[in-house]
Amino acid sequence: MHASLTALTAELKRLKASGVKTLSVSEESLRKLREVVVARSSPQSATPAAVAKPESPVAAPPAYRAPVREFVAKPVAPDAATIPAPVAFTLPEGDKAARWAALRAQVLGDPVCRAHVRPGKQVVFGVGSVDAKIMFVGEAPGAEEEVQGEPFVGPAGQLLNKMIGAMGLKREEIYIGNIMNWRPEMPVDARGMQFGNRPPTESELAYCLPYLKAQIEVVNPDLLVALGSTAAQGLLGVGTFKTLGEVRGQWREFAGKPLMVTYHPSYILRNQSNRSKRMIWEDLLKVMERASLPITDKQRGFFLDRA
Ligand code: URA
Repeated sequence: MHASLTALTAELKRLKASGVKTLSVSEESLRKLREVVVARSSPQSATPAAVAKPESPVAAPPAYRAPVREFVAKPVAPDAATIPAPVAFTLPEGDKAARWAALRAQVLGDPVCRAHVRPGKQVVFGVGSVDAKIMFVGEAPGAEEEVQGEPFVGPAGQLLNKMIGAMGLKREEIYIGNIMNWRPEMPVDARGMQFGNRPPTESELAYCLPYLKAQIEVVNPDLLVALGSTAAQGLLGVGTFKTLGEVRGQWREFAGKPLMVTYHPSYILRNQSNRSKRMIWEDLLKVMERASLPITDKQRGFFLDRA
């Protein structure tokens, strides 16, 4: 029992360190934990009878609401030590399409990427035109993306499509990649389902970043747009800023390309105000100007009137 408690404590510390802030625990699991704690603090804890001993009515805890799902304590996220250094690879000679296809095959077949994807789910590589002038860079695949094997196909992707449309472009005309090629693992529930997402660790980022750089090299866009804090930290360096507000709306540089940092579409999904929409839109107007895209008065005024 001591070993199980030690393993549970270690797992909870590791989850906390990887950014997990809340867990759901079932009534049944809580009851068992209480029994163990009572048994361990009891002088008769060596006897099985002590474990089953009912708690004092005085010490009865307040009523606990049944959780939505059961948390299964199981190692899920890799420590730094389990992610190796990025692999060295060379892009083949050839035209853009051939080089892109070779890179895609390399990433989809990468054993480290594959090892972090659960059965039935996919490693996710970038998508779009190899001749794109603008490349959007997101964080990591989510639940929908790892099923479909394509970046930004879930709710954030639907909004990104609208943003691209508002710029007068089509999704097929630009390129969309992620810093990560797999969905960072989360705890699984009793049915083996993962819920929620977490930002990648530094070692996960470091492993996948060369694959993003190689996509930038192949596509050779004029501009990059980092969507959200994690993508921006991945490109500008972890710890280079504290809040996205410090860097958004400004031109930076990555891999010799101008880089605009803006909010992630999921930020807008959480903050539906016109003010938030206008902030992201102003960043995209700067992208349009720098990419010499035509901008109508109507486009300039988006989200101003009702702000
Ligand atoms: N969020 C991202 O950053 N990337 C995706 O592919 C999906 C959601």
